[in-house]
Amino acid sequence: AEWYADDIERVIFSADDIAKKTAELGRQVSADYADTDGLLLVGVFKGAVMFMADFARSLSVPVELEFMALSSYGQRATSSGVVRILKDLDRDIAGRHVLVVEDVVDSGLTLSWLLRYLNGRGPASLEVVSLIRKPESMQVELPVKYVGFDMGQEFVVGYGMDYAEKYRELPFLGVLKPEVYSRG
Ligand code: PRP
Ligand code: MN
Ligand code: MG
Repeated sequence: AEWYADDIERVIFSADDIAKKTAELGRQVSADYADTDGLLLVGVFKGAVMFMADFARSLSVPVELEFMALSSYGQRATSSGVVRILKDLDRDIAGRHVLVVEDVVDSGLTLSWLLRYLNGRGPASLEVVSLIRKPESMQVELPVKYVGFDMGQEFVVGYGMDYAEKYRELPFLGVLKPEVYSRG
């Protein structure tokens, strides 16, 4: 069995579910930006690493890739609400069509902070694509224009998403067994 077999309670979205949804989002975004000179994707690392790579390749409009690394969770399973910039943008985004690429919008606190931050830099437009959204967990109202899957409040790992920096490399999205959290 795989090394993680004992840690995973169940798979929520398979690699195939994710690939199909990513292709669908890619078609929608490509159509919406067809009349522009292209898009600047701002990936929120580390969580968005897998989705950013696959989503960028699903687009048929030219893109440039920018990365920010933010952290609000640290070693915990719940958001602290305090966002730390671990890596900032390296370029000016003024006048650009910016699309933030997130893996998950949970409380919405990370994204709410980020949208304020990016808006202050004068983009021509600013939208968000997130593979996962958890409507019942959201503490702020946010315009997430492109959503892959809406789900409940369960904490998910895999496809970029971690618990204490583990499980990001799993090709699917799954839920951990409760005992994983109590191992400390
Ligand atoms: C996670 C996730 C999102 C954010 C969502 O990142 O990747 O960026 O939290 O949570 P929120 O909507 O409650 O703010 P995390 O802070 O764990 O950093 P990481 O991406 O490096 O894992
Ligand atoms: Mn993140
Ligand atoms: Mg995390």
